[in-house]
Formats: sequence, structure tokens, C-alpha cells
Amino acid sequence: FPTLHSIFFLTYTFYFSIFLSPEKLLVLTVATQETDGFHRFMQSANYFKFNVKVLGMGEEWKGGDVGRSIGGGQKVRLLKEAMDSLANQEDLVILFVDSYDLIFAGGPEEILRKFQQTNHKLVFAAEGIIWPDPRLAEKYPSVRSGKRFLNSGGIIGYAPYIQKIVNQWDLHDNDDDQLFYTKIYVDPLQRERLNMTLDHKCEIFQNLNGALGDIIKINKYLKCLFIFSLPQIYFNYLANYIPNVWNYEQGCTICDQDMVDLSQLKEFPQVTVAIYIEQPTPFLPEFLERFLSLDYPKDKLNIFVHNSEVYHEKHIQKFWEENKDVFRSFKVVGPEENLTQGEARNMGMDLCRKDLSCDYYFSIDADVMLTNRQTLKLLIEQNRKIIGPLVTRHGKLWSNFWGALSLDGYYARSEDYIDIVQGKRVGVWNIPFMAHIYLITGQTLRNELKERNVFVLERLDPDMALCRKARDLTVQRERESPSPESFHMLRSRQGVFMYVTNRHEFGRLISTANYNTSHYNNDLWQIFENPLDWREKYIHPNYTRIFTDNLLEQPCPDVFWFPVLSEKACDELVNEMENYGSWSGGKHKDKRISGGYESVPTDDIHMKQIDFDKEWLHFIREFISPVTLKVFSGYYTKGYAIMNFVVKYTPNRQAYLRPHHDSSTFTINIALNNKGLDFQGGGCRFHRYNCSIESPRKGWSFMHPGRLTHLHEGLPTTNGTRYIAVSFVDP
Ligand SMILES: *[C@@H]1O[C@H](CO)[C@@H](O)[C@H](O)[C@H]1NC(C)=O
Ligand SMILES: *[C@@H]1O[C@H](CO)[C@@H](O)[C@H](O)[C@H]1NC(C)=O
Ligand SMILES: *[C@@H]1O[C@H](CO)[C@@H](O)[C@H](O)[C@H]1NC(C)=O
Ligand SMILES: *[C@@H]1O[C@H](CO)[C@@H](O)[C@H](O)[C@H]1NC(C)=O
Ligand SMILES: *[C@@H]1O[C@H](CO)[C@@H](O)[C@H](O)[C@H]1NC(C)=O
Ligand SMILES: *[C@@H]1O[C@H](CO)[C@@H](O)[C@H](O)[C@H]1NC(C)=O
Repeated sequence: FPTLHSIFFLTYTFYFSIFLSPEKLLVLTVATQETDGFHRFMQSANYFKFNVKVLGMGEEWKGGDVGRSIGGGQKVRLLKEAMDSLANQEDLVILFVDSYDLIFAGGPEEILRKFQQTNHKLVFAAEGIIWPDPRLAEKYPSVRSGKRFLNSGGIIGYAPYIQKIVNQWDLHDNDDDQLFYTKIYVDPLQRERLNMTLDHKCEIFQNLNGALGDIIKINKYLKCLFIFSLPQIYFNYLANYIPNVWNYEQGCTICDQDMVDLSQLKEFPQVTVAIYIEQPTPFLPEFLERFLSLDYPKDKLNIFVHNSEVYHEKHIQKFWEENKDVFRSFKVVGPEENLTQGEARNMGMDLCRKDLSCDYYFSIDADVMLTNRQTLKLLIEQNRKIIGPLVTRHGKLWSNFWGALSLDGYYARSEDYIDIVQGKRVGVWNIPFMAHIYLITGQTLRNELKERNVFVLERLDPDMALCRKARDLTVQRERESPSPESFHMLRSRQGVFMYVTNRHEFGRLISTANYNTSHYNNDLWQIFENPLDWREKYIHPNYTRIFTDNLLEQPCPDVFWFPVLSEKACDELVNEMENYGSWSGGKHKDKRISGGYESVPTDDIHMKQIDFDKEWLHFIREFISPVTLKVFSGYYTKGYAIMNFVVKYTPNRQAYLRPHHDSSTFTINIALNNKGLDFQGGGCRFHRYNCSIESPRKGWSFMHPGRLTHLHEGLPTTNGTRYIAVSFVDP
């Protein structure tokens, strides 16, 4: 993209001197509302320093529904009125263009030069399909190459000639502008009198209509100064770059424009936050904690929670009890309401729409782990009608937005998708689909998206329905759409763009696939599906310091002691076992092991019995093996263990274990609760060294050789219950 501009620059430095000066070019456009598309048009116009005059701002649009039918007469009327005061300037060049779906890709000098090269007084854009009256086709002069038919979306000409043509207008605002101009053009006398032609080869006006099927090569458009829309989505994509919106050297050049400065506001805007739990979702308590830690005044937040899962009612109940008074309002709709996802989302959105004091609607699904406490503020500050933060699945290309759409309206990968997801291109991107998390202004809900039912459309899933409806607001003329099925959309003059920002790290998406909720603490099983969240929840916060700060003790010779499991991991593992409940009773006869006999039995439950052995072995390989390598250097553990179990010591069942060896190369022994708090006594004694460890620490593990040197015993637990998790590694 940058080369585009350097080429323009070279060309116009050459030609500048012999052509009309840029002050002689006046851009006129009609815009009745300041839509997102209008802002984008003005941004590109300002970039090239065009002199622009906007006609009709604030007027009601009466020009019809241009995408569906004919219309647009209002534009001609407004132009006619404007020309009254301009037509006396003989050498003034008027460029009359649409604004909602157009950007400039070159400057005034370049356009004037191309115009002068046509050697005509009046030039219209051209297109390949005749509209709205195909019967006029035979009256068109034939062309050897290029596009044959007139398009009224772009006109350039000397002021007196523009006036001559629009002065012939005596129709109504909802009559068709293109038909009007076409009838004049196909009349040979008029064509000559007005010295009028079409831009058959798209020297000035580039219309992307019908280009969707092409593999788009930007070079193809190098010579074109304007870009019209449809395929709107592809056009929106190009407009993320042109003119100089983003480039490799400077990154995003417009991202800091029109920001809201929250520190300058007297008070923070009011936000309705809607949280959607639409399926069993791992790490929901952590999701809620992260949400609570968002940096935003809680008395400015109205909370709406839709929970469709009975399984999560305990989590929501707790969340509600602890926080019901801290927010401005708090509403929960539970599974008993039996709402569909679409109904629930409509309901949440409507809360903001109907509440005139609601400035923003912030929708967040329970699978979005926000790690940036500033997320809400950052989104508000970016000041867009609809904007979402980029969130991705950890280590994957999966994210909450699509860069492009396939012809049937589903996912397609845009050229820039991977770079955006990986943060190699940073900015605020106009995109055709997003989900999971987004912010919409209350104004937008009450205006452009005022239809109540935005989440229900045909059989689309609710997010698809919303995005489709938001997109439909911006899509232009359908007549050249290569796939009428996917783009049969009405033309409305109220475009709303959807943006995704990756200007900051915001968080990640977790996977809800394969979430088995038939255990007691189901997140323990998520070590494969959501490894990062598993680690954050279940691994001791100081674990990495083993390697960075040598946080590791050696209380007895070759007995190493280090932090590995978090409080939550310990508690949940104990709960899981107690919930399962079938403790072995510490008998010698043991059907669970080969041979059926245990010489030094403990009162225990095997990981396998709760179907946790695969996860536990993975834990050993991921988190124990690295420690092994550190303390027993040169020994590479296979990380394999048959005996993985939780032991329970309590005075009235089994209180201690007599001296023994383990059938392992090395053993890990992790304390799952607290001495003094949960039990008295306990500990471990190594006979060869006459060395005891009597104050085990919750979440810390011992690691010691299993045979030969480390004969050991479990010291008696004198009161309460002591739990440890044990594995005999590399038996
Ligand atoms: C249009 O005007 C140019 C001068 O600007 C002239 O050279 C040319 O012949 C005219 N063309 C027609 C078709 O009248
Ligand atoms: C919930 O809704 C579904 C589909 O609308 C219906 O099949 C089901 O019977 C409803 N259940 C209850 C408890 O109302
Ligand atoms: C879920 O876990 C239970 C208990 O371990 C098991 O019986 C069941 O097969 C699992 N379901 C799936 C779908 O994996
Ligand atoms: C981690 O180590 C720091 C510094 O020694 C200590 O203050 C903190 O309590 C430790 N965290 C836990 C959970 O033990
Ligand atoms: C073992 O250590 C204890 C104190 O730690 C000491 O009282 C005892 O005599 C030692 N026993 C042997 C056999 O060294
Ligand atoms: C045993 O534990 C219970 C509660 O855990 C406590 O009330 C009691 O005082 C303890 N007994 C001794 C002897 O420490």
C-alpha cells in the first residue's frame, strides 16, 4: 500500500506545473447524516486536502431506498440549488460524489490531471451493468473496451456544464437520478452540447461493484483515484489502509483521532453490562473475578446476567450475593426462564436501549477472559458506534472477529487476518463480523439499531444475525452483487461500521468444547483444553520462581521441597476425593493394583478412580519433570506413574504409615492442607538421615528417591484430617 502513494506523489510532482491548480477543484457531496461512512469519506478528503462542501446535512432523506429500487433525485435537486451560486466561475471544476461509500485514494492534482486528459467538459463514472432501464442499452454508444454504462455516483465537470445538466431537473426527490442523467447522455445532441463522456476505463472513478469474485490485487487499482462500494465488505477492508490509514512504517495513522478523553468528563458514562452464559463454561468463577476487577466505577454499571445453565447457578448465586449492592442495578435471568440465546441477547440489549441514561451497552460472553483491567475504558475512549477488543484463543489463530465473509455469509480469511490476530498490524479495523465481546453506544441502539429483534434472523446464530443487520445498514446497491442471496440488503443511509481494536492486549477466549460437567470440580479436567487458564488457577503463583530465584529447599539430604499447586488446586482435589468418598480403608488386600496385595497400604483414592489419571500424568510431565531435571541433573524422567493417589490420615481411621520404600525412581508428595489449621501432627521422617519434616506446607511438594536410600515413614496425625497427593514416578 505505501507504494501507491509514492507513485502518486511522483506523478503529480511532474505534472503539477502544467495543469489546473488544485484550488480550482471543489468537491460537492450529499450527506443527510454524519454516518460512519461519511466520517471515513471526510477523513480521506482531509488527508489529501480536498476542498469539500457538504450538501443536505440535517435534511430528511427523501431520495428513496437506492439499493432496492430507483431513487436519488434529491441529490440532483441539491446539486442544482448549489450550482446557482457557482456556475459563473468558468474554470472551477466540480467533483460531485457520494460520500457514504467512497474514499479518495489520490489527491486533487491527480484528479484534475486525469480529468483534463479526457478532453471533455463533463465526465461521469461508468459501470458494466445498465440501470435502471435496460431498454436504453441499445442507445448507448458502443465502446471497444472498458465499461459502457453511466453511473451517477461520480461526476466531474466545469461548473457551467454541471449547471447546464442539472438545470434540466424538474422531477421529484424520489425519482431516479441515474435515469435522468442516462437519458441526457444517450441523446447524441445533448451529449455533444454538454461535451459529455463516461470514464469507461476507470481512470478517475473506480467502482468495485462486481469485483468480489476477483482475487483482488491492489495493483489493479493503482491508477484509480476513487473507490466505490460493493462489495461493501471488501471496500471496508481496503479503507482500513487507503489513503494511508495504516502502513508498515507508521502503523495506524488515524487511531488517535476523535478519541473520548474520559478524564475530561465530569462523570463516567453509564454502561449496561450484559454477561451471557449460554453453555457450560470452564473457569466461570475466574471470569467473574476478572470482570469485577475491571477498572470502572461500579455505581455506573448496570448488570444483566443471562445464565442458561443449571450447572452455573451456584456460581451466579455467589456472585450475586457478594455484589448485588455494589452495582447501580443487578438483574439475573436464569435457566428456568428457558430463553433462547437470541431472546436473551435481545433482552439484555433492550435494557440499554430503553434506558435513556444508558450511554453504552457492553456485551460479554463468559468465555472471554479479560486480562486488561482497562478494557472498558479503552473501548469507550476509542469512540466508535460498535467496537470490540480483539481476543484470541491462546496460541491459536481463532479469534472473535472475521476479516472477510464468504459468498454465503460465513467465515473467510482476509489477507490481513493473521497479522491482526498476531499483533503484527495494530490498529482499529473495520470488519464484517465479530462476537463474544463488544461495546455499542446507547445512541446507536436507539437510532440505527432501534429494531428490537436484532439477534433473530432466519436461522442464523444470534451473533451472525446482529452483524448481518449492522452490515446491512451500510451495504449499497444490490444490483451488481454476484450473490443476491447473501447481499439482498436494503440500502439505508445510516451506515454503522463494526470495528475491532488490537491496539492493546485485552484478554483471550477460552474453549468451551469438551467441558464435562459430571465431576464435582470440573475445571481440574481442563488441563488439555485450556492449559493457560488451568495453570493460572491450579499452579502455585510462585512456581516459576523455582527456576528464576531458585525457590527450592532441601530439608533432608536429596529431599527437595518446592511450591507447585495453588490453594484452589489443593482444595478442589480434596473435595473431589471426599465427594467420590470410597476411601480404601488402608487394607492389605487391594483389588485396584496388580497382584491385589499392598504391603504398606494407605487409606486412599486413586486418581484413576475419579478418572483423573491422564490429567494428573500430564501435570507431572508439565510441572514436575522440569523440577526433576533441575535437582537430579542428567536424569530425564519419563513422567510415567501407575500409582497416583490421594492419602487421608486421621486418628480414627489411619493416622500414620510405617517405614517403607516406594516402588518408584522418585516420589512426589504434595501437602493438600494446612498443619495447625486442618490437622495436628503429621510429617515425614527419613531414617537413613535421621531427618524429619514436621511442618508440611500446603501446595508444596517433596521430591525424593523412592528406593534404597530413602526409607521413610508417615508421622502420626494426632487430630483433624491430613491429605497428601502422592505419585510414584518412573516405577
Ligand atoms: C469537448 O471540448 C474539447 C475542448 O475542451 C474539444 O476539444 C472537444 O472537441 C469537445 N468534444 C466534443 C465531442 O464536442
Ligand atoms: C424450553 O424450550 C424448549 C424449546 O423452546 C422446549 O422444547 C422445552 O420444553 C422448554 N422447557 C421448559 C422447561 O419449558
Ligand atoms: C464425563 O465424565 C464422566 C465421569 O468421569 C464420564 O463417565 C463421562 O464419560 C465423561 N463424558 C464425556 C463426554 O467425556
Ligand atoms: C510467593 O512468594 C512471596 C515472596 O516470598 C511471598 O510473599 C508470597 O506469600 C508467596 N505466595 C504464596 C501464595 O505463597
Ligand atoms: C536423631 O535426631 C534427634 C534430634 O533431631 C536426636 O535426638 C537423636 O538422638 C537422633 N538419633 C540418632 C540415632 O542419631
Ligand atoms: C482437635 O481439633 C479440633 C477442631 O479441629 C479442636 O477443636 C481441638 O481442640 C483439637 N484438639 C487438640 C488436642 O488439638
